Amino acid sequence: MVNIEEMAVFCKKKGFVYPSGEIYGGLNGFFDYGPLGVELKKNIKSNWWKSHVQQRDDVAGIDGSIVTNPKTWVASGHVENFIDVMVSCTKCNVRFRADQLIEEVLDISIEGAPLEEIQKQLAKVKCTKCKGDLGEAAAFHTMFETNVGPVKTKKSLAYLRPETAQLIFNNFKLVVDNARLKLPFGIAQMGKAFRNEISPRNFLFRCREFEQMEMEYFINPNDKKCPYLAEVKTDSFQVLTATMQKKKQKEKMMKLSDALKKKVFKSEWHAYWLATEMNWFVSLGCNSKNFRLRQHTPDEKAHYSEDCWDLEYKFPWGYKEIQGIADRGTFDLDQHIKHSKKNLTLFDEVAKKKIVPVVIAEPSLGVDRSFLVFMYEAYNDDKKRGNVVLNLHPKLAPVKVGVFPLVNKVGDKAMKVYADLKKEFVCAYDKGGSVGRRYARADEQGVPYCVTVDFDSGVTIRDRDSTKQIRVGESELLEVLRGLLAGSLKFEKAGKLVK
Ligand code: GAP
Repeated sequence: MVNIEEMAVFCKKKGFVYPSGEIYGGLNGFFDYGPLGVELKKNIKSNWWKSHVQQRDDVAGIDGSIVTNPKTWVASGHVENFIDVMVSCTKCNVRFRADQLIEEVLDISIEGAPLEEIQKQLAKVKCTKCKGDLGEAAAFHTMFETNVGPVKTKKSLAYLRPETAQLIFNNFKLVVDNARLKLPFGIAQMGKAFRNEISPRNFLFRCREFEQMEMEYFINPNDKKCPYLAEVKTDSFQVLTATMQKKKQKEKMMKLSDALKKKVFKSEWHAYWLATEMNWFVSLGCNSKNFRLRQHTPDEKAHYSEDCWDLEYKFPWGYKEIQGIADRGTFDLDQHIKHSKKNLTLFDEVAKKKIVPVVIAEPSLGVDRSFLVFMYEAYNDDKKRGNVVLNLHPKLAPVKVGVFPLVNKVGDKAMKVYADLKKEFVCAYDKGGSVGRRYARADEQGVPYCVTVDFDSGVTIRDRDSTKQIRVGESELLEVLRGLLAGSLKFEKAGKLVK
């Protein structure tokens, strides 16, 4: 597995991701997506939206604004509590996020712990850069502030949203009415979030501007049965419970139904969403063995949360959170009811009374972290071929089809093929260098299929993953590529195998 610096170099070189504003020296924690990166990111988001919103009858979507009434963030608790603890070295002055430093040195997870507890653990830690003594830990507010309107006053203070989720609660009543939602249901949204991280690091993993894909899934507190459980019951996942962490055990494979019987998961709904989120990555070509579901320990869990799990990916620097999936109870709606004085309750037709719906699961996934996961899963330095092959799932691949004229003389014919295919897929036309060089270039960009046009009738399609080639008639080409890209057609059966 390449380390994160090598991955960042590859992403820049191939046009996936650049440091933002690089001509001025960049800005720590900010990134720009290049021509291939923007397509991959768009495909990740559209696949998430399709499976989480468009293909479900029980979920509606919104797109809230980045800057909203700041009372939102008072109600949610962000104004008071969205802080990280910072500590500096007394010798070299390097600044650290205290919980990350403790995790790195002492191998204990302490995110969200009180300042005193963090200070206690820091007493056992020295600066990792110069071995100097650390100073006093101090709390640091991580919401980016901005100003609304031309005059900067206390009243004009607003925030760039640190998560997308709160906009869902803000709009709760309107969305329920407009989309005629009946419990159980979800409201989803994706978009930018901003956090003034003390020490952004590991490339896209921890940035100051990033995107989230989030959902609040609401149920009736009097009806906790999950009607979709059968869809995931027999699936198995790597699981690490809070108890296993206390006993210093490693994650182990568990079948969802067995885990539910053993009460590893507190509710059917939570188990369903954990499995569904894991399965989303698998459906896009990821190996489930590189992921685990880790339960928050009692110290990590918010006081109002019944249970909280992270979906973690095995990065070169260890298992790290890519998605939080918390049971948040009625905390957020209660807070917004209290602060806005608006009625955000629903009427339970069976119990014949008003209820505050329970957020049984809040799947909250980072787009940029997912991007990194898909890049790691796809990256294959193929020594035999002598180039990197990005085995991206066809649904995610930034370019779906490469079109190559074998020689310049067939350029017109190749251009026609390209123009026809371009109406349906993102395609790239490449006439530079030998065909072998062009295949290598396409492999590095993750192009699943390349079409080579020559003098003979018909064209050749080359499969990125196997390098096998088939010959198909020009008139069938579009239909064949449709089938291959959708996964409904096997490559060997799609045409005449070229020996
Ligand atoms: N609404 C819940 C929430 O925001 P979170 O665990 O703070 O929960 C959810 O964030 C996800 O957002 C994380 O699992 C991660 O994928 C992504 N994320 C959070 N902070 C990030 C950062 N600084 N850079 C990149 N992604 C981040």
